[in-house]
Amino acid sequence: MTLPASRPEPQTPAQTSFAADVRHGLLHAPQKELPSMYLYDEVGSALFEVITVLPEYGVTRSEERLLTRYANEIVEALPADVTVAELGSGSGRKTRRILEALCRKRPTSYCPIEISRTALQLCRRELADIERISIVGYERDYLAGLAEVSRQRKNGERLLVLFLGSTIGNFARLAATRFLREIRAMLRPGDTLLLGTDLVKPVDTLIAAYDDSIGATAAFNLNLLSRINRELDGDFDLHDFEHVARFNPDARSVEMHLRAKRHVHAHVGAARLDIDMEEGETIWTESSHKYHADEIPAIAADAGFTCARQWVEKEWGFAESLLAVA
Ligand code: TRP
Repeated sequence: MTLPASRPEPQTPAQTSFAADVRHGLLHAPQKELPSMYLYDEVGSALFEVITVLPEYGVTRSEERLLTRYANEIVEALPADVTVAELGSGSGRKTRRILEALCRKRPTSYCPIEISRTALQLCRRELADIERISIVGYERDYLAGLAEVSRQRKNGERLLVLFLGSTIGNFARLAATRFLREIRAMLRPGDTLLLGTDLVKPVDTLIAAYDDSIGATAAFNLNLLSRINRELDGDFDLHDFEHVARFNPDARSVEMHLRAKRHVHAHVGAARLDIDMEEGETIWTESSHKYHADEIPAIAADAGFTCARQWVEKEWGFAESLLAVA
């Protein structure tokens, strides 16, 4: 249902910042952009779950193989008594391996931190059957959530922060180091961070992973415009756009864009915004940076960690690195 323009509903704080971010991003010149965190509404989170099982998207399966194979080894490398805080839990499927290995040794608290309520519910449902686990979800952004978990812990309680998938890859390189530093600032000696990174691989493999043949990733990307239509009273016609994935060799990243197939005029009511796009002009929605496994220790050191251990899956190309507070 669309509301009459004359009497808009009062906006929630979340809608107000979504509107402000959309306005800022779509007025950004020369490259229009939208923050990728908004990809993950209820529809987007469900579509991302589909992406993780696509034949072309090897990232999730590769990491699952790693965590299945090495869960015990990873747990052996940790201090004895840890509380687990996960940044962006997604469905929780990958995390199960680690949590099971921990809970076999002793009762363990697990604090998933998610901006998506849908994802939090999914992960609670997925993991609730693990014996001796207690799950406390935080519907917050990563740093605010981690600050809260860190503040609430008892003296002597150690944190294991999980930052899996290749979410770190969605930050630009400098921003990634800055983000790790912010995590580091909330940690204490004895705390650890398990960091997943997708590795550099042939360009055609990468492009296929982000532009799959059944169009699931395209739908995931286009859903951002449809979310703007739904939540911010926008009038984008999705038929005017196509999903594009391209490799940026300088940044070593796959960039996702939404490209205007023809001239577009659009209005976003709640952002008091009118925009025009030329044919071929794009909105940049996401980048996924790829790493070499041996770059990680230097990045870790830059952020105040030491890379204690690393596990590499070679079939697809994915690394899990255990960083300890330096
Ligand atoms: N963190 C995931 C990645 O970079 C997110 C992702 C997968 C993604 N496919 C996408 C983000 C398509 C935007 C568009 O691999």
